[in-house]
Amino acid sequence: CRTVILISGSGSNLQAFIDTLHPEQADIVAVISNRADAYGLERAARAGIPHAVLSHRDYPDRASYDQALAALIDSYQPELVILAGFMRILTPGFVSHYLGRLLNIHPSLLPKYTGLHTHQRALEAGDSEHGATVHFVTEELDGGPAIMQSHVPVLPDDTADSLAERVRNTEHRLYPLAASLYIEGRLRLENGRALLDGSP
Ligand code: GRF
Repeated sequence: CRTVILISGSGSNLQAFIDTLHPEQADIVAVISNRADAYGLERAARAGIPHAVLSHRDYPDRASYDQALAALIDSYQPELVILAGFMRILTPGFVSHYLGRLLNIHPSLLPKYTGLHTHQRALEAGDSEHGATVHFVTEELDGGPAIMQSHVPVLPDDTADSLAERVRNTEHRLYPLAASLYIEGRLRLENGRALLDGSP
């Protein structure tokens, strides 16, 4: 399955894909970052994966950036596009172009805590558990149909950083697993719902 992965930062989820998924499953044809200093670009280079930077700073507005980004992605002819810490809000035009083949991971138990600072917010709310959600991307920010979640306990002496690390470690198993279901043709977006083979 020809796969393009979009990043903005560390790329630890990208690394999980590289380490976990067999190239015959997920053929990562490109890694694209909107930031030149994203460490994930080095991970791609080390793995021999073509990588590119497309900076949002070079475009006057969101629509023109997303158009250029889609053109770049499409030049790799992907069947699956994975957002792995890509810190950009996407325009409806971009989302609809990839609808049903665009996945994201969000560090909270959605629908709780869309947006930023999810770990701090879970702590402040006194939650006893927290986690991450893989979902299909739709026009609603962090609001697309959930595919799978990981759950972790919130411990009494947790800080936002310790909690983030606990969640992040689960993401590295969760995200490749969800993607592999898609790649195997067992998962699809239908009528606004995530359908998994074998689910009611
Ligand atoms: C993860 O916490 C993910 O949930 C969020 O961005 C972070 C990406 O981390 N969407 P990394 O760049 O994969 O290390």
